[in-house]
Amino acid sequence: MSTARTPHREAPIATARPQQTSDTPTATVGTSSPAGEQAAVDAAAARLRLTVGEEILDGGSPARVHHARTEDGTDVVLKVLAAHPGAVDGHDLSSFHGKLEQIDHLREHAPQLAARYLPVLSSAVGEGWAATTTAHLPSEDLGAALRRDDGDENLFFARNDLVLRALLTDGYARATSPVPPEHLADVHIGRFLRRLPVLERHFPQLAGGRQLVIDGRRLEAPAPLLRRLLETQADRLSALAPARLGAPAHGDSNVRNLLFATDGRADTDVHLIDPRGSTAPWDPVYDLAKILFSLTVWDPMLRLGIRVDHDPAAGGHRAEFRAPVYPGYRSAAHQYLDRLDGVDTDAWFDKDPHWKQRLLFTHALHVLAEAPCRLSDRKPKYDATGRRVTIEELALGHYLMGTVLLNDLAAQWAEGAAELDTHRHLSVVTGGPPVSPGRDR
Ligand SMILES: Nc1ncnc2c1ncn2[C@@H]1O[C@H](COP(=O)(O)OP(=O)(O)OP(=O)(O)O)[C@@H](O)[C@H]1O
Ligand SMILES: [Mg+2]
Repeated sequence: MSTARTPHREAPIATARPQQTSDTPTATVGTSSPAGEQAAVDAAAARLRLTVGEEILDGGSPARVHHARTEDGTDVVLKVLAAHPGAVDGHDLSSFHGKLEQIDHLREHAPQLAARYLPVLSSAVGEGWAATTTAHLPSEDLGAALRRDDGDENLFFARNDLVLRALLTDGYARATSPVPPEHLADVHIGRFLRRLPVLERHFPQLAGGRQLVIDGRRLEAPAPLLRRLLETQADRLSALAPARLGAPAHGDSNVRNLLFATDGRADTDVHLIDPRGSTAPWDPVYDLAKILFSLTVWDPMLRLGIRVDHDPAAGGHRAEFRAPVYPGYRSAAHQYLDRLDGVDTDAWFDKDPHWKQRLLFTHALHVLAEAPCRLSDRKPKYDATGRRVTIEELALGHYLMGTVLLNDLAAQWAEGAAELDTHRHLSVVTGGPPVSPGRDR
């Protein structure tokens, strides 16, 4: 996979303040919303007596998220999901309701963690839609520090430590459960295989095939490769399974769901939004892999776009992040596993010697499982030059990058490696850590 090396400055993101309110609740923006979704936003605003302001385009799901103001003048964020056929699991109305149930569950089982979730102030359900409001927090996400100039890694890792303390010590560790048999196959691997039909419908040639050529290399397609690993590497995979599960602290901790206040309380606390939507016991590695996946593939691709070329004569598929990229992300991604060591992880993973291998495997699966999700995101995405990036490009980008990651893992296992070479592995999508004065490789 190719990545450019030029430093990048923060691209503007549409998160402006609400428009002037009036006494009558009206939906004032949302030109990018298809009609059904706009109608759902209007209906939710009327029901919750809100004046709707600018749309926030930062989310990664089909939900429409807007600044809004209540009748008493409180700034809130309104999130509305309109049901649509073919949505992947996690983008459906029942997952939307599940988020509230999960936060209630944590209030009982992990109260310190629950207190970090931005309060849900109101909710409403209509025909084919559901909506919630949360108190608006002027904030930036966990990745923001890495997007500034060359990346403020000290601030990023200080904040990441707060995230670990919150999720692991105040969250997962508050309730432990045994691991059901087949957990890894069902949860980590099965998720991609269950979503595969969505990809096959859009890209029948590519997602249905056994092999694909990427950057001139013939690789095994992920679905047959995963099925082969389940058959031939059963011992390795069972050794990779978690030693225990914990309270479902989050389950979708991409960097955009981990917020840090920018209004004077900056740097001090992590605030959480948007959990997975399930009260089932969960493996924290899943969340740690979501943060890593945000740095390596997901967040840069959604912010900067991706170019996917296909020329069978010249090496098959080729996927390239649009220049420029964020050097801070690449550097932090390559340090990420080492920087996880500490009291919070030592305590949780003491009987789980292969948790970092599981993290890299889960990371590759997050990249793959994200490909079908990209096809159901309705919000417009733009690259750094302002060009609209299509959902197909983003889906293909994730599919190709997930394929090279998974093939590298399988190759390292086939070479007999007891431990994985993390830098070799991540380099297949990052292009390697950036090389610049003062920056450790
Ligand atoms: N209360 C809030 N205060 C500040 N920013 C918020 C708030 N709620 C949401 N945001 C911003 O809006 C973005 C999208 O919101 P959210 O994460 O809830 O939606 P989503 O990722 O599209 O949905 P989901 O993953 O649940 O399907 C967040 O990443 C964050 O930047
Ligand atoms: Mg989110």
